[in-house]
Amino acid sequence: MTLQEIKNLKEKSDTRESLIEYLIHLHKVKNIAEIGVFKGDLTSYLLNKVEAIENYTLIDPWRYLEDWNKPNNQSNTNFEAIYKDTLEKVSFAQSKLTILRGKTNEISESIKPNSLDAIYIDGDHTLKGITIDLIQMWDKLTSNGIIIGDDFYPSIKRNKFAFEPTLVFPFAVYFAEAKNVKIFTLPFNQFLIIKNHQPFEFIDLTGKYSKIELKPLIEEVLQTQANENRLLVKFKRKLNRLLK
Ligand SMILES: C[S@@+](CC[C@H](N)C(=O)[O-])C[C@H]1O[C@@H](n2cnc3c(N)ncnc32)[C@H](O)[C@@H]1O
Repeated sequence: MTLQEIKNLKEKSDTRESLIEYLIHLHKVKNIAEIGVFKGDLTSYLLNKVEAIENYTLIDPWRYLEDWNKPNNQSNTNFEAIYKDTLEKVSFAQSKLTILRGKTNEISESIKPNSLDAIYIDGDHTLKGITIDLIQMWDKLTSNGIIIGDDFYPSIKRNKFAFEPTLVFPFAVYFAEAKNVKIFTLPFNQFLIIKNHQPFEFIDLTGKYSKIELKPLIEEVLQTQANENRLLVKFKRKLNRLLK
C-alpha cells in the first residue's frame, strides 16, 4: 500500500465501513480478525462486500465484564441475545468464520503467529484494553499485515469521565514508535498501522493532531472542568440573588 493510496482513502470512502472495506480490498486481505464484534454489523458488512476474505475471526466475550467501565457493557442476558443474533446475521458466511468467545487475553493463544493479514481493533478501548490488544496481537500479523483501529480521538474528555477514558490515542502512537513503524490517522476516528512500513512516523491525514503527549490532553480536561465550575458558581450566585 503506497502513501498516495492511503491519502486517497479520504475521497474513496464516505463511511467508516466503506473506509475499512477499501483498505482491506487494497491490501488484498484474506485472513482478518475483528476484536470487539458486538452485534456483528461491521462483520456482516465486510463479509458481504469483500468476497476475497477467506477467514474471518470474530473475537468478543459477549458477556458482562466487571473490569470494563464502558457504555457498551451489558448484562449477561443482553449479551447472550446479542451473541445469538450475531451468529444468525453472519451465518451466510458460515464456512469463513472462526468464533473466539472471550477477551483478547483469554483467546490470543489460540491464534497462530503470522496468520492474519489484518486486525480490526474495536474492543475495550481503555488504556488497559488497547495495550493488551496491540501487544498480544502484533505477532499474529503477517510480516506486511495491517492493524486498523477505532476510537482514535485527539481528546480524552468525551463522556466527561462517567466512564473509563478512551486512550487508543495516544497509546497506539507510542506502540508504533516502539515497533518503529508508521501510524496514520484516518477519517472516522480510525488509525492504521502497517507492519512493514518503517521507520516510525506519525502521519496525521486528518489534521486534528498537533501533539502526541498526554500533558495537553490532561490540561484540556482541567480547563473544561474549570470552565464548568465557573459557570456553576455564576449560576449559584444568580439563584441566590433571585431567592433573596
Ligand atoms: C464498540 S463494540 C464493537 C462494534 C463492532 N466492531 C462494530 O463495528 O459493529 C465493542 C465490543 O467489544 C467487546 N469487548 C470489550 N472488551 C473486550 C476485550 N477485552 N476483548 C475483546 N472484546 C472486548 C464488547 O463485548 C463489545 O461487544
